Amino acid sequence: MSSAKRKSERAVTTISSDVSGDRNCRGAIILYGGSFDPPHLQHVSILKDAVREIKPEKVFILPSWKSPFKRAHWASFDQRRKMIEIAVKSLKPGKGEIAISDFEFKRKRTTYTCEVIRHFRRKYSGCAIYFLIGSDCYGDFRKWKNYREIMKHAVLLVARRRGFGGKNSEAGTLFLRRTFRGTSSTEVRKEIILSSTSSKVPHGVLAYIRKNNLYLCSACSWLRKNMSRARFAHSFKAAKLAAKIGAEIGMDSSQAAAAALLHDAARDLPVRRIVSLTAPLRIPLKKEIIRREPLLLHSYASAVIAEKRFGIRDREILDAIRYHSAVSTGMRLLDKVVFIADFYEPGRKTGKIKIGRVNKSNFNNLFARTLKRKIEYFKRRGMWIHPETVKLWKENM
Ligand SMILES: [Fe+2]
Ligand SMILES: [Fe+2]
Repeated sequence: MSSAKRKSERAVTTISSDVSGDRNCRGAIILYGGSFDPPHLQHVSILKDAVREIKPEKVFILPSWKSPFKRAHWASFDQRRKMIEIAVKSLKPGKGEIAISDFEFKRKRTTYTCEVIRHFRRKYSGCAIYFLIGSDCYGDFRKWKNYREIMKHAVLLVARRRGFGGKNSEAGTLFLRRTFRGTSSTEVRKEIILSSTSSKVPHGVLAYIRKNNLYLCSACSWLRKNMSRARFAHSFKAAKLAAKIGAEIGMDSSQAAAAALLHDAARDLPVRRIVSLTAPLRIPLKKEIIRREPLLLHSYASAVIAEKRFGIRDREILDAIRYHSAVSTGMRLLDKVVFIADFYEPGRKTGKIKIGRVNKSNFNNLFARTLKRKIEYFKRRGMWIHPETVKLWKENM
């Protein structure tokens, strides 16, 4: 192995939050936190610019355990740590080093930025601390817990992202010179869910994602093999529409894409197989469903496949798959997005109906209209309608 290669591989280490810091350090350190689920090329570019402009002694990357503003991560801490290692191993932080800190992960609870700053302030008391964030987070900065304390002990180093402000600065804030595109991990996940690839992640990271089957990267090929062509086309179009609606109403579009892509995973299986997949489940009115409309169980069976075959642990995704056919009262936002996308995806007859631009204020109306149309459809075909669906319809009239 060449010495240059050995050097680059040494550049990234994982550092335990328990190790003592370096109180004699007199330079700058950069802290870069985030979900990194997955890390993408723009993370690398931002870090590269920050290192060039600040010339730190050390860079600490802090994958979050769970951000105060987000749900659980798709990839585990170890998987995200490995992907970060791959993504940043070509970076050279001047005379210093890059380390991935397990500080947030070890705490096993929501960690606020002020706690991160306190931790590193104690360990590197002689250093100037730069906390690196994107301008999308900077807009909300005053809502952060103890933001004045953060400003007192650290400099906010802000990477301007196109479309996310970043003009108004206050004392204690420093902007990187360049403006970056608005790439997000959510967008990358959505791309991988729908196409098994993304040009926005380093090659090595993409290879790791594929090898470890992350972000449903194998879902499309499995679905192609296990459902008819028409059904796959329907699921795929529903996933794209769900992602679009999800983004329009401000929710995680990758979550919406995943739920809609898998919503009919069991639909083309023989009815006996669908019923057997749901055998261990306690489903209200199960006997009546089996007697009157057994295919309605395909949504529960699809949720079983999503969980067992694709390792989905996200309760919201599983519920949205589970309830798309036998809708019930108490439906949450994602359940409604999948229900709407299933009905209006452009390949269906109902997809010809123009739903216009969806936003937060017209979303519930659209859901109520969709529910009404679906019930009319069931009636026209003389189908049994689940009592919960009727109850929900009456509530939304
Ligand atoms: Fe379905
Ligand atoms: Fe469907």
